[in-house]
Amino acid sequence: MAGLIPQSFIDDLLNRADIVDVVGSRIQLKKSGKNYSACCPFHHEKTPSFTVSPDKQFYYCFGCGASGSALGFIMEYDHLDFPQAVEVLAKQMGLDIPYEESSLSKGQRQSVDSPLYSLLSKATEFYQQALRTHPAKQIAVDYFKQRGLTGVIARDFGLGFAPPGWNNLIKSLDADDAQQKLLIDAGLVVENADNGRRYDRFRDRVMFPIRDTKGRVIAFGGRVLGDDKPKYLNSPETPIFHKSEVLYGLYEVRKNNRHLDEIIVLEGYMDVIAMAQFGFTNGVATLGTATSEEHVKRLFRIVNNILFCFDGDTAGRKAAWRALESALPHLQDGRKIRFLFLPDGEDPDSLIRAEGEDAFRARISQQAQSLTDYFFTHLMEDAAPNSLEGKAHLASVVTPLLSKMPNSGLKTLMYQKLEDLTGLDQSHLLAIKPISKQPVKNPYNVSAVPEIAINKGTKKIKLAPAMLALRHLLQRPILITKLDNIIDLKEVEGSYGKLLLKTIALLAKEPHLNNFQLMGKLASYDKEGLLANLLNEEPLVNNEENLEKEFIDTILMLIKQQSETQLDRLLKKGSALTDEEKSQLTELLANKAKTK
Ligand code: GTP
Ligand code: MN
Repeated sequence: MAGLIPQSFIDDLLNRADIVDVVGSRIQLKKSGKNYSACCPFHHEKTPSFTVSPDKQFYYCFGCGASGSALGFIMEYDHLDFPQAVEVLAKQMGLDIPYEESSLSKGQRQSVDSPLYSLLSKATEFYQQALRTHPAKQIAVDYFKQRGLTGVIARDFGLGFAPPGWNNLIKSLDADDAQQKLLIDAGLVVENADNGRRYDRFRDRVMFPIRDTKGRVIAFGGRVLGDDKPKYLNSPETPIFHKSEVLYGLYEVRKNNRHLDEIIVLEGYMDVIAMAQFGFTNGVATLGTATSEEHVKRLFRIVNNILFCFDGDTAGRKAAWRALESALPHLQDGRKIRFLFLPDGEDPDSLIRAEGEDAFRARISQQAQSLTDYFFTHLMEDAAPNSLEGKAHLASVVTPLLSKMPNSGLKTLMYQKLEDLTGLDQSHLLAIKPISKQPVKNPYNVSAVPEIAINKGTKKIKLAPAMLALRHLLQRPILITKLDNIIDLKEVEGSYGKLLLKTIALLAKEPHLNNFQLMGKLASYDKEGLLANLLNEEPLVNNEENLEKEFIDTILMLIKQQSETQLDRLLKKGSALTDEEKSQLTELLANKAKTK
């Protein structure tokens, strides 16, 4: 590890490096037209759908959706984090990285033994010592006892106690000014922005050290002893602690298991510890965040099987679905995911203490649902699978999810299951236009922007331009290549407008997406189910030439609207304009004069 890498260096590096060399030095590429292709290194396939574009300096897999820059490829392929990938690429290009010294590494590079590690280790010792000897230790000891923890398990997880008081840690480390600054960088000490006073972050809490995979403490979670809020306090993000990537207990899991078959993902610190105490030494927890793809990737590097164990309440079910979505892109054959929902009101900690190891094992083997089971049961809950509409709905919701999966036997089987449920075969499924969950009563009356009238057969209908443009793009994504000045469009009002801008940005990067790939990528931005609404409509214009013309006209209209909004805003601002805004105003006025 090292100090900060300047952004300018990263830009420069990407400018100089050729993605074709970077990828080509790792896998065999074949020239095909302007691009290069290969069998995708990130999922199993027989015919190449992995493409590298020298023009765009970008790779993309039509099979599994993997995509990125040269650095992204190195990260994925070599299993590296970002700074490591920069180092590898810089080395390959013969460049030295001009590390910037951060406040925590003055005069020296922040090397493997970043001073933060030793500070966190000293703090760990302090908290553990306090649990044994501090005059106030009894409340913490009693707390752990009352929650059923043994001394052994407390030792295994390195638990400690941050005593009440504002500066126990600072005092015990006898920290001078420089060291106090490091304590701030490490997230252990907080500086009051107003008066500059410094004090311990963790006070009057029981302490859970969070370790990295090498066993070094990188952060802490601290729990109040009573019912105060916040219940848990975590270290902030620091140079060595990135909350969304870390799994609590993973180090302990690896240490205590030689042969690991499955890892259980739980919700909290206490769940991990209680489970371990009762013989499940393969439990980890996210730190109060949703299960991310990064989490899933980490776990699948260690085991082929993951069991997600969540509360049966609404929050737990939501968390499970998020976990499923993070897992889908990484479900190569041979990997398996299961879900176990606990009775409402119970968490693994309370349940295993109540029913013991054997009953919990039986519960897992009897009640854990396979991914496919959970997947289809969950989705059928709000579909009426016996009606034609219900089947179409199901197909429209499932297809984009399946498209996130790498090609695999499982994916094929899931398509087959969907065929059984809907009676549609795969070619129909792939061509299906998703429908929305809640049909919008009047999808045409969506925003206050001017409307465009269209002759469609004998009917004349009116559409907001943003919606119209979006509809065209969804039907024919390749239309994006007909625009020279897409970059000019930055502001469009309303929900459809936002989605349109997102669509344009995606297509500007990857103009050859088909409707389904585009839908897949847009789905997560489409909170209101707008896309499904649009796709469900019949095409407005059947004639290719008209479609193109109409699309361009609509975009031009939106650009004009944008100018007017900007003009309005600048004129309202009056004399408070910056120089930049003044020249923008001049330009806008000039353009307006021209088009009149
Ligand atoms: P106990 O009450 O000690 O059994 O905790 P729990 O793990 O059952 O708590 P809960 O299910 O409420 O929360 C699960 C996890 O979410 C915790 O382990 C924390 O990581 C996180 N969490 C809970 N409450 C808070 C909070 O107030 N702040 C933060 N930052 N995280 C929290
Ligand atoms: Mn709990």
